[in-house]
Amino acid sequence: MKMKQRLWSALIASVMCLGLTACGGAPADTGSGTADVGGSDDLIVVGFSQVGAESDWRTANTESMKSTFSEENGYKLIFDDAQQKQENQITAIRNFIQQDVDYIVLAPTGETGWDTVLQEAKNAGIPVIIVDRQVQVSDDSLYTAWVGSDFRAEGDKAVKWMEEQFADKDQLNIVHIQGTIGSSAQIGRTDALNEGVEKNANWNLVAQQSGEFTQAKGQEVMESVLKQNSDIDVVYCENDNEAFGAIDAIEAAGKTVGKDGITVISFDTTRAGLNDVLAGKISLDVECNPLHGPRVQEIIEKLEAGEEVEKTAYVDETQFDSETITQEMIDERAY
Ligand code: AHR
Repeated sequence: MKMKQRLWSALIASVMCLGLTACGGAPADTGSGTADVGGSDDLIVVGFSQVGAESDWRTANTESMKSTFSEENGYKLIFDDAQQKQENQITAIRNFIQQDVDYIVLAPTGETGWDTVLQEAKNAGIPVIIVDRQVQVSDDSLYTAWVGSDFRAEGDKAVKWMEEQFADKDQLNIVHIQGTIGSSAQIGRTDALNEGVEKNANWNLVAQQSGEFTQAKGQEVMESVLKQNSDIDVVYCENDNEAFGAIDAIEAAGKTVGKDGITVISFDTTRAGLNDVLAGKISLDVECNPLHGPRVQEIIEKLEAGEEVEKTAYVDETQFDSETITQEMIDERAY
């Protein structure tokens, strides 16, 4: 494996050093400014390109990765926050390749546009593990494994719940606040709702716009929709932070959310999201589990041991509604 190659290189370098008069000096500048890989030959070096910090879910995901890939656990983590920009992720991956990390972990912004840089990682012999959202590449040997959520299944759960709740309604006016366009989380959740709208003759899509998975944008979208439409039954938000923003906008407009007002549907089930479910503000929250650190670690451990890994691994997920949630259910959860 890569780790062994690194140890061999270190050994050869020190043997060569013995034959030279001066081998000292500062380690080469790796260019990223994020970590000094030199001196960490006993640690497995992981370069992690994170989407950004757009949501509470993302914060929990970053925390899971950082606490898993710690020095106490035998890792050196080089973390890069791409601020929701694919070009930043491509630069980060190139920096990881230059630094000759042992593994690259990529949480991709969108699904497309990865072929070239993943080919570069493959040429450098560095295994790439994709986490959370998926990538669409022409050759799936460009990455070693993917672990994350079944976003389409998440959307289907929300649509099924809506069908059960609103079967008797003559017309259901729905506002759809989408996630970052082109990300698997948006594509799966949007496809499920679009299909629900096609299937249910009483469902009327009033507006469909991206809130980019942020609270500020979710609020902005909802404010502008409320200026043009007063008759809204459901707001389908593609994550908790968009839901928080939408709720703020609805309440600021003098309307209520929940049982006697506008039904808010969300995804993620962060602690703050579930508190809103308990308060009756979010009627349904579908789980999207962010605790991927230990799952990626398991993949790396298997690769280090020369074992086969699953190419695609979906995480088991559940859902919570305001009628059945309890405080104990929230307390039991880790994020
Ligand atoms: O890809 C997972 C999604 O990305 C989460 O639903 C969202 O909160 C995050 O920003």
